[in-house]
Amino acid sequence: MAAATLRATALAAILAVFADQTIAAAVPSTCCPRFAWEDAQLTEADIAQSDASLFGFDSDTTSSKGSTATCKLLPGDTAWPSQTVWDRFNATLGGALIKTVPLAAPCYSNWHQYNAEACQHVRENWGDPHLHVNDPASAMFPLYQGRTCMPTEDPNSSNCTLGGYAAYSVAATKVSHIQLALNFARNANLRLVVKNTGHDFADKSIGAGALSIWTHKLKDIQFLANYNCRGYKGPAFKLGSGVETEEVYRAAEQNNVTVVGGECRTVGIAGGYIAGGGHSPMSSLVGMGADQVLSMEVVLPNGRFVTASQDSYPDLYWALRGGGGSTYGVVTSVTVRAYPKMPHTTMTYAYTTGPNVTADTFFASLGAYMSYFNAFTNAGAHGYFLVVSIGPGQYLFSMMPMWGPNMTKPQFTSLVTPFLNDLSDLGISVTPVITEYSSFYQAYTSTFGPEQVGGTDNHAASRLFPRENFLPAKRNETLAAVRYAVEAGGVIVGYNIRSAPNAAANQNNSVNPAWRKAAGFFILAAAWPANATDAQIQQASETLTNDWMARWRAVSPGAGAYMSEGDINEPDFQQAFYGEHYPRLYALKKKYDPTGLFYAPTAVGSEDWVVRDQLEWIPTQNGRLCWKS
Ligand SMILES: Cc1cc2nc3c(=O)[nH]c(=O)nc-3n(C[C@H](O)[C@H](O)[C@H](O)COP(=O)(O)OP(=O)(O)OC[C@H]3O[C@@H](n4cnc5c(N)ncnc54)[C@H](O)[C@@H]3O)c2cc1C
Ligand SMILES: *[C@@H]1O[C@H](CO)[C@@H](O)[C@H](O)[C@H]1NC(C)=O
Ligand SMILES: *[C@@H]1O[C@H](CO)[C@@H](O)[C@H](O)[C@H]1NC(C)=O
Ligand SMILES: *[C@@H]1O[C@H](CO)[C@@H](O)[C@H](O)[C@H]1NC(C)=O
Ligand SMILES: *[C@@H]1O[C@H](CO)[C@@H](O)[C@H](O)[C@H]1NC(C)=O
Ligand SMILES: *[C@@H]1O[C@H](CO)[C@@H](O)[C@H](O)[C@H]1NC(C)=O
Ligand SMILES: *[C@@H]1O[C@H](CO)[C@@H](O)[C@H](O)[C@H]1NC(C)=O
Ligand SMILES: *[C@@H]1O[C@H](CO)[C@@H](O)[C@H](O)[C@H]1NC(C)=O
Ligand SMILES: *[C@@H]1O[C@H](CO)[C@@H](O)[C@H](O)[C@H]1NC(C)=O
Ligand SMILES: *[C@@H]1O[C@H](CO)[C@@H](O)[C@H](O)[C@H]1NC(C)=O
Repeated sequence: MAAATLRATALAAILAVFADQTIAAAVPSTCCPRFAWEDAQLTEADIAQSDASLFGFDSDTTSSKGSTATCKLLPGDTAWPSQTVWDRFNATLGGALIKTVPLAAPCYSNWHQYNAEACQHVRENWGDPHLHVNDPASAMFPLYQGRTCMPTEDPNSSNCTLGGYAAYSVAATKVSHIQLALNFARNANLRLVVKNTGHDFADKSIGAGALSIWTHKLKDIQFLANYNCRGYKGPAFKLGSGVETEEVYRAAEQNNVTVVGGECRTVGIAGGYIAGGGHSPMSSLVGMGADQVLSMEVVLPNGRFVTASQDSYPDLYWALRGGGGSTYGVVTSVTVRAYPKMPHTTMTYAYTTGPNVTADTFFASLGAYMSYFNAFTNAGAHGYFLVVSIGPGQYLFSMMPMWGPNMTKPQFTSLVTPFLNDLSDLGISVTPVITEYSSFYQAYTSTFGPEQVGGTDNHAASRLFPRENFLPAKRNETLAAVRYAVEAGGVIVGYNIRSAPNAAANQNNSVNPAWRKAAGFFILAAAWPANATDAQIQQASETLTNDWMARWRAVSPGAGAYMSEGDINEPDFQQAFYGEHYPRLYALKKKYDPTGLFYAPTAVGSEDWVVRDQLEWIPTQNGRLCWKS
């Protein structure tokens, strides 16, 4: 009786604190359809059959309690779970546990998987995102893993070690797997990471000695032709969190609709992309990917499985759409609105400096383009371009492509003609290829090429330039800051993009406020030779952050950067990646994950932690994770 009373009192207290997350009973169940594997949840009975001290839920049903240890464990520590415990964990998971073998281990004689043929396959495909997407542990930016097992031709050149990779992964195929993994990591004081595809520029999906939840196998795509809930009536998709961009685009094509996602074929649209407030060729027309989300299913740090939507955990619904991955829980699926099929028109062209195009003219042409940034995005268009030095005083501009969603060729052509005339007036003659396609998918597959990843010879930062940077009063100083970086050897992958206001979508979320003001998103990379020493990499990284990017920050004070394609060394990352949402995001982190079960570099709350034994400017996940003292 006493225990029951205590429980009731505790429950009342919790309900009072968390009064804003009432779970509306009135919502029809069709509003939150679940995949069959989402109904496969962990029960108290399952836990009682196994070992409650290892696999039990947090007793606090709303937030999470856990270890108060100073540091997370690493393999080899006395408290590290024994083989027996790992075996029991694997048995409870039904065999879904994978012990990490680094992708390039077959290249090393110190690793028992040494295999020349397998090594050659890894060497030849290391730059292909698919290789990393399909691996439970690998991520695409090995600089921040620690470069402890790079593909090599010489099996004796060094020893391959785990470095920043997780020790074990759970290849999750049902919600109970994720609940078990969270409970075990929390109860055993293990470092926890969530890996989907490994695309994040700061390798936010890995961590030394961690238990990793690999969401890659959650591939379901369900088309909801007549979704009708929460004020939205129309087509929608429910997507498992392992679904990749090209997979949902194909499904959208088959169903004659359009879905908002990014350029890259293999990015996890329902994972880090939506969580990080990702951008799309559709954004200038209908807003960000995160704005399209109707509801999400998520396993909380305490192990409980809940729905986050306008009427269930609205604060989480807000935070999970822009506040970053690996912070508040593991999302298992999202439901997003879809738009009707529409025509798309694209344009490609390229030019370089040359006998008739001086460097000054080249940069004047970039200024001319920038003078149209606001007009183009106001019309719903998107630009994706490259600016790079190709020799002393020589430069290349490549439009790859400019993209007009919902535009016919005549509409698009009339939009861009004044700009093309300005280029011509500068003496730059281009032969633009303008093509109309019947759908997003047709345009997408015809224009966006494959990506190259896995390099350790460059590092990128980014900036979201507000619209005012492209108005006459600020355009010259913006251009000067951009030119400085390109002349110094920086490579720009630029986007002319806005987050369109969209009254029909739900834009009350935690997407970086800098996106809402932007008309330009510029990624800037510093490169170094493949054989560069750590000192050279440090120097180049410092120059990028403290010189080139400092000038970009100075011409756009108070603006920000995109966290998922951002600088791991970003100064004041809280302001840059989250803007004025940071205090609220931090409070929600403390509410749902007070013991820091989830950690990732530059994630909300990560400033409370330190990864030990780091080189300045080359922070890796290869080190012990501890609370900052
Ligand atoms: C070549 C390339 C092209 C890109 N193109 C675009 C683009 O066009 N538009 C754009 O906006 N971005 C783009 N990005 C950035 C990309 O969207 C982000 O890196 C995104 O975070 C990737 O998410 P992911 O789940 O695929 O990858 P991961 O790196 O595996 O995950 C990213 C973060 O999200 C967390 N996470 C993943 N899944 C979950 C989940 N289910 N629950 C909780 N946390 C989770 C991870 O722990 C990690 O912290 C690109 C990146 C690369 C390398
Ligand atoms: C987990 O169990 C499965 C099936 O029995 C087995 O194939 C796998 O190797 C085990 N994983 C580990 C890490 O032992
Ligand atoms: C690498 O070392 C192993 C054992 O030390 C040796 O057998 C092998 O020949 C070496 N391989 C090369 C390519 O040097
Ligand atoms: C690999 O590790 C072994 C055992 O610790 C050590 O003897 C050897 O020198 C290492 N090899 C290299 C190339 O570092
Ligand atoms: C898509 O549109 C085409 C052409 O209008 C039509 O033939 C097809 O049946 C439609 N497919 C679906 C799934 O609605
Ligand atoms: C945005 O959503 C949050 C829900 O978490 C709510 O507190 C806030 O009032 C909303 N703001 C607006 C302008 O609707
Ligand atoms: C450069 O300009 C001159 C004069 O307008 C023209 O004759 C020549 O063809 C141009 N050269 C190139 C490479 O465009
Ligand atoms: C696309 O254009 C059509 C016709 O002009 C218009 O009715 C529709 O609202 C547009 N769609 C979007 C998403 O803007
Ligand atoms: C910007 O530069 C152009 C070309 O050099 C010049 O004509 C113009 O007056 C400048 N504008 C401002 C606001 O300084
Ligand atoms: C890297 O390679 C270049 C060209 O082969 C050489 O000149 C340079 O000295 C090398 N640098 C280092 C640090 O080994």
